[in-house]
Amino acid sequence: MTVVAGLARRASRARNATTRSAPKGNGNVNGKRILLIIGGGIAAYKCLELIRRLRERGAAVRVVLTRAATEFVTPLSVGALTNERVLTSLFDLSDEQEIGHIRLSREADLLVVAPATADLLARMAGGHADDLATTVLLATDKPVLAVPAMNPHMWTHAATRRNVARLAADGIEFLGPNEGEMAEGGEVGLGRMAEPHEILAAIAERLGGASGASAALAGRRVVVTSGPTHEPIDPVRYIANRSSGKQGHAIATAAAAMGAETVMVSGPTNLTDPAGVATVHVETAREMLEAVEAALPADVVVCAAAVADWRVADAAGSKIKKSKGKPVPKLDLVQNPDILRTVAELDAKRPPLVIGFAAETDNVVANAKKKLRTKGCDWIVANDVSAGTGVMGGDRNSVHLVTAKGVEDWPRMSKDEVARRLMERISKGVAKLRGAK
Ligand SMILES: Cc1cc2nc3c(=O)[nH]c(=O)nc-3n(C[C@H](O)[C@H](O)[C@H](O)COP(=O)(O)O)c2cc1C
Repeated sequence: MTVVAGLARRASRARNATTRSAPKGNGNVNGKRILLIIGGGIAAYKCLELIRRLRERGAAVRVVLTRAATEFVTPLSVGALTNERVLTSLFDLSDEQEIGHIRLSREADLLVVAPATADLLARMAGGHADDLATTVLLATDKPVLAVPAMNPHMWTHAATRRNVARLAADGIEFLGPNEGEMAEGGEVGLGRMAEPHEILAAIAERLGGASGASAALAGRRVVVTSGPTHEPIDPVRYIANRSSGKQGHAIATAAAAMGAETVMVSGPTNLTDPAGVATVHVETAREMLEAVEAALPADVVVCAAAVADWRVADAAGSKIKKSKGKPVPKLDLVQNPDILRTVAELDAKRPPLVIGFAAETDNVVANAKKKLRTKGCDWIVANDVSAGTGVMGGDRNSVHLVTAKGVEDWPRMSKDEVARRLMERISKGVAKLRGAK
């Protein structure tokens, strides 16, 4: 089985030696044992959320902290989340009759190194065993997933490239890094650690097939649109919007986690393609519509992308030049295709459940109700994206689910939680359709 693509498409094409194809299939982590090795990077804090999510899903998590990692997260907080003693030193283990580093390295189903620092990767590539983390990694006979995080210059440095290539050849699997803003200094580039939900999906993918509650959408096909569209003005300029794709990607991740065969059509984002999701990358609204139509038939379509309403009528074939005395160019806009309405108005190929998103700044619910009528879709998920809500690009959302039956106001929650709740509702909706068949 191929494991864990994880790299932003453009970046991976350009610079990464460990690109893998996005994994097929889904899985769950219930009853699995994860040994999480946390390295000394600023992204270590994200591991607290990862542990919480793993435990919530029934996984047992043991944690080894490198000495440097203890500068970023405390054994106390990690231990409180894992409900296990946190291990920091090779020599601590000799006091513990029950467990030695060999046993520790072998009793897990999967070892996850996150953040995999440049230093830790170098020591792993060199076969070092000078602390508990590296000793366990050298002694293990279990699969190892490394989730790198570092400054973009460290990631592209020839030494790190060599170490990553060496480790990939040794069978270490990689997830990420993502492209985006670094926590320190606002630098932007390839080096951001994959998000907890991406790591969770990769772990679930690595550890087995969908079952039980996670298979509620098994046998169903779900198409999700995500991100913004870019509408060209000329070959270097475009009209865009502030959508990050976080909500759409979270919905696709949640659909795959529930066993659905999931296709995501995404505009340009800085996010990793979700594990277990067939991702189609597009730029414009017209390309997005074409890709959605090609992905049909489906049981459910969720249009979460922020599709540009307009495009430039005649995008220039070469860069529009600025020159003294020349008037400022005027942009003639024309209407883009309406993807939600087009899908909702299909005849034979109309998916049984068509769901749109309404990003509104005023009269959120009233506008969403109107959109439900005019677009002919089944549900609208309305969110307030006005300045100050932090929804566009942020990690949290507060939405209203508008259906023919009425309006549900959901409390403010993470976009992942919105996605999970929405997919649970969708699985119930689909079960009714199944009953009606
Ligand atoms: C504030 C701060 C942030 C750091 N962030 C990272 C990081 O994100 N990635 C990385 O490779 N190293 C980072 N480092 C450097 C590592 O902490 C250092 O290389 C350390 O030796 C790593 O040890 P470990 O690999 O045993 O955990 C950071 C250092 C500091 C002081």
